[in-house]
Amino acid sequence: QVSCAVEQPIVIGLAADSGCGKSTFMRRLTSVFGGAAEPPKGGNPDSNTLISDTTTVICLDDYHSLDRTGRKEKGVTALDPKANDFDLMYEQVKAIKEGKAIEKPIYNHVTGLLDPAELIQPPKIFVIEGLHPMYDERVRELLDFSIYLDISNEVKFAWKIQRDMAERGHSLESIKASIEARKPDFDAFIDPQKQYADAVIEVLPTQLIPDDNEGKVLRVKLIMKEGIKFFNPVYLFDEGSTINWIPCGRKLTCSYPGIKFSYGPDTYFGQELSNRSCLRQCCTILVFACLFQVSVLEMDGQFDRLDELIYVESHLSNLSTKFYGEVTQQMLKHADFPGSNNGTGLFQTIVGLKIRDLYEQIIAERAGVPAEAAKV
Ligand code: ADP
Ligand code: G6P
Repeated sequence: QVSCAVEQPIVIGLAADSGCGKSTFMRRLTSVFGGAAEPPKGGNPDSNTLISDTTTVICLDDYHSLDRTGRKEKGVTALDPKANDFDLMYEQVKAIKEGKAIEKPIYNHVTGLLDPAELIQPPKIFVIEGLHPMYDERVRELLDFSIYLDISNEVKFAWKIQRDMAERGHSLESIKASIEARKPDFDAFIDPQKQYADAVIEVLPTQLIPDDNEGKVLRVKLIMKEGIKFFNPVYLFDEGSTINWIPCGRKLTCSYPGIKFSYGPDTYFGQELSNRSCLRQCCTILVFACLFQVSVLEMDGQFDRLDELIYVESHLSNLSTKFYGEVTQQMLKHADFPGSNNGTGLFQTIVGLKIRDLYEQIIAERAGVPAEAAKV
């Protein structure tokens, strides 16, 4: 009898608003697993799915229950749960997790319509990325690991201006208006998901330049929940200590405004006390909120020379690399991706390595062998 346990995919959730770097993150993740992800061969050219040897990434926009016209008629945005079919999302993610193929709908971003379904086979690693991977409790329970990309309003605005004004010819006013229009639904339905994330990458304006509002130099935090099985947070110098480090000595070229790292334990908020799943996971309960214990690694500033990242890498521990310098190698390989010279690229790469490690440990546990035997 063939055991199918090993063939059951692990499921990863990646949540963020659109235009916040999910595709870039996915390209870094699949590269860590050793292959570039591509759209399904011979399928719908407007498919949102990406497939590599190990990984299939689906976009949760495919579970929009209302198409563009439907949303307009009902006056709801794509961020509103009413515009999305969570029952189908749950059934299909569950089926994949059980090792079964699914016929998943396709939301066509060009036409704004729902296209005929595409066949998705269970991969080794199944990533669901989009606006709501942690919104529905049933779907959330299926996730082996979850990530939230938390881009502050100032930075989101700067990125959107760069893309929509420079590349798409939109006016500053129309960009402002579109961000404002999405904000109430973003605050109500998307942002609260970060309480459920095992890792949050938070992107803020730099503190190295007083009153900076250009959004070019970034302060990025990697917030890692403690106590998650198979996930050991990365640390700088000394696990659990509080460290501030300006690595601009003899080994690292730092032009203005320099680079600053910080590391230490912290707490991260959850939701109201009435939230049962929050209560279950929570470590400290305050009157209206519960707090999780986390480790936070922060990088403010940017690298002048990416090859010198090896100096920083050599001071970080628990990176889950397979050889010395793997983080630097990955970053150099994709130096042209957005964020490669700052904490966004660095932390996305590190989370990719942690996911590979998590995968290998889960597979090893299922097979009852040491993690080394399940290496990809
Ligand atoms: P999503 O898949 O969430 O829509 P993308 O990865 O396609 O996001 O990124 C959208 C745009 O946002 C990019 O073209 C770029 O302009 C900007 N962007 C994303 N990540 C970064 C980053 N780390 N640094 C600077 N700009 C970024
Ligand atoms: C997708 C994106 C949303 C975006 C929407 C556009 O669903 O994930 O972030 O808002 O498309 O919707 P629209 O109603 O403007 O076509």
